[in-house]
Amino acid sequence: MKRILTGLQPTGVITLGNYVGAIRKMKQLQDEYDSFIFVADMHAITIPQDREQLPKNIRSLVALYLACGIDPKKNTIYIQSENIYHANVSWMLECNSYYGELSRMTQFKDKSRKNANFTVGLLTYPVLMAADIIIYDADYVPVGVDQKQHVELARDIAIRFNKKYGDTFKVPDFYYTDTEVKIMDLQDPTKKMSKSAENPKGVIKLLDDLDDVRKKIMKAATDSEAVVRFDPENKPGVSNLMGIYAALTYKSMEDIEEEFKGQNYGTFKKAVADVVCSELEKIQARYYEILNGKELDRILDEGREKTLAMAKEKYEMMKKKIGLYRG
Ligand code: TYM
Repeated sequence: MKRILTGLQPTGVITLGNYVGAIRKMKQLQDEYDSFIFVADMHAITIPQDREQLPKNIRSLVALYLACGIDPKKNTIYIQSENIYHANVSWMLECNSYYGELSRMTQFKDKSRKNANFTVGLLTYPVLMAADIIIYDADYVPVGVDQKQHVELARDIAIRFNKKYGDTFKVPDFYYTDTEVKIMDLQDPTKKMSKSAENPKGVIKLLDDLDDVRKKIMKAATDSEAVVRFDPENKPGVSNLMGIYAALTYKSMEDIEEEFKGQNYGTFKKAVADVVCSELEKIQARYYEILNGKELDRILDEGREKTLAMAKEKYEMMKKKIGLYRG
């Protein structure tokens, strides 16, 4: 069975973009693949985090995975920082990665531009991500398109290590779906929907109050043409709402254009709000039940033990190949 693996940062703001880009893909694939999903808490500290809030966000993200339909019987679920090998493997990979390639990463360039006093962790972040992926010999990495470049770097790093030290890692691949959508900000649809957005009205969070979600969608930026047509360049707002609608209903853009022919944006937005709210309602109902239940810790303990054993084996293999042992 081929293996898929993904992780999300526990920022406390899990968005509809995160859901469509990663969590839901994992849910769809969990029957066909050996599935690993984890909490990328060490990635989260590349930018400052509140140390009292972070543990709550970690727990909340695991509860959300389960509430979104990630089945603990079919997935290995774990927390990155509970496994010391991720950082150790990352270090060995860092020493085989180049400043040039890391400084060229789009996300690094964006984030470091916003804050002149960025951490070194922000630069080396994709190497830790490569470690997360290749320690477990993942075949495919289901992530949103914004993370594709990092998966390609993980590929390069795996290939380079294999060449230098002999076959050690499986070379991972970005997981492509036919309906790959990047969910954009509702207020500024030229930017991706992101937890760090300045205007909260542009972002739908999985745990948002449903009345607020409806309001945000009804007030989403559109254009003056009043035609529901997919044209991301000239009609980014409407095209984004179509993308959300398509992602949740599995309808094609042509079908959606046909469905709303001659209808105004109000009617279209109401339909989008209906499908989003109905999806979120199911997730939220399960979330609160799971968050307060005992299952969660048992699942995480099991995930930790399993991944510790797997990662240790890879780590020891790497040490030997690199020459890190008493001579
Ligand atoms: P993170 O936490 O920024 O995002 C989690 C997932 O959500 C996807 N995503 C989106 N997809 C579609 N539209 C959007 N607007 C949108 N916003 C976010 C992201 O592509 C991602 O799949 N570095 C990763 C976490 C990570 C990881 C890994 C992932 C660490 N190690 C190993 C895979 C494998 C990150 O920060 O994701």
